[in-house]
Amino acid sequence: MTGADTLALRTVVVRRYVTPLREGGSMPAVVEADDLGLYVLKFRRAGQGGRALIAEIISGGIARALGLPVPEIVLAELDAELARTEPDPEIQDLIRASGWLNVALDYLSGAVNFDPAVDEVTADFANRLVWFDALVSNVDRTARNTNLLIWHRRPWLIDHGASLTFHHAWNGTVADPGKPFAPIAEHVLLARADALAQMDSELAARLTPAVLHAAVAAVPPDFLAEAGVGAQAYVDYFTARLADRARWLQGAIDARGCAVRLRGGARGAARGARGIHQRRRDPVVPEERLFARRHRAGRGTAAGAGCACRRAHGATPPGRDRRHLRRRARGWTDRAAATARALSLADGAAQRHHSNLAGAHRVMRRSGRGAGARDGAHGAPAARPPGPA
Ligand SMILES: Nc1ncnc2c1ncn2[C@@H]1O[C@H](COP(=O)(O)OP(=O)(O)OP(=O)(O)O)[C@@H](O)[C@H]1O
Ligand SMILES: [Mg+2]
Repeated sequence: MTGADTLALRTVVVRRYVTPLREGGSMPAVVEADDLGLYVLKFRRAGQGGRALIAEIISGGIARALGLPVPEIVLAELDAELARTEPDPEIQDLIRASGWLNVALDYLSGAVNFDPAVDEVTADFANRLVWFDALVSNVDRTARNTNLLIWHRRPWLIDHGASLTFHHAWNGTVADPGKPFAPIAEHVLLARADALAQMDSELAARLTPAVLHAAVAAVPPDFLAEAGVGAQAYVDYFTARLADRARWLQGAIDARGCAVRLRGGARGAARGARGIHQRRRDPVVPEERLFARRHRAGRGTAAGAGCACRRAHGATPPGRDRRHLRRRARGWTDRAAATARALSLADGAAQRHHSNLAGAHRVMRRSGRGAGARDGAHGAPAARPPGPA
């Protein structure tokens, strides 16, 4: 069980703006921080406003306490001066306006968006998730926009900025804490959540007063001051909503009953939720894009750039880096050979083509990225890309 003591947030300093995540309405970005980790930065001055960041922190903490996987959330110090390295004026403005403290989530490299048509989750996960989203009034977990990622074959929760719907235009008083959350009817996993009542006491028991206090205490006081709401108001709200949970829980159970009845059983309801497919199954940010931006910016070394995201996560041993790079190199060769075949190159042209490839491999080897790179090339710490001290 996640204890209250694990909900405090680390603070990192953003060193580099790597690439925007154009999919996100709030223009989040992948950034690199001073611990060499890659993070998805949620800007304080994005359109959704500062309360979205409060929601990100509080709901993220509650989710973790309920045993739901959320990427590590950190506070990210952003130097407004970084705007100077970014060509896009819209992004420049956002960086300038959001100078100082923001919120960031550990970037899950290689993750794909959850697709209800193909990705399976356990009934335990579905029940836990629906219960949680009904508690924190999260409108952003529909089949159209699941805000779930599949990473290392597990579902991960992201993007809780649109939760805590009650706190927009909120003066801090608890009006109707047990109010059923009607948008739960659109929840992507509602049909799978067939044991909400059975799991209710286990889940509620996890949210002790200490856990609620810790989830709220993780919010920087300045965020709360800006929103004009005190930390205690959030704790009071959740305490009251948990005490009066019979109503909102029944609301979710009834919504599921309706969905199942209307669509002819749980399978039909699940199929309905699967009707809208995610746009693609590629990794959220193709690794090439992370590379390309680093090189375009003319910063970082070829050796450092390839592995920064893996080293950043710390969990990837150097051996895996080498295997990955060998695969990349093989892919490069295979693609080039296929292209040569497809174009039916004349002998001379094909030879030139292959000697270009050999040249490319020499460059990769020299920079420690090639298939034949010596072990030391990746075992040794890569040169740190130049950045602000
Ligand atoms: N931690 C992460 N690791 C990898 N990819 C992520 C992560 N967080 C977000 N993404 C990707 O970036 C996209 C946008 O992020 P997110 O949903 O948090 O932004 P948003 O602006 O709040 O989006 P929305 O359009 O849903 O309001 C996600 O759909 C996902 O593909
Ligand atoms: Mg989103």
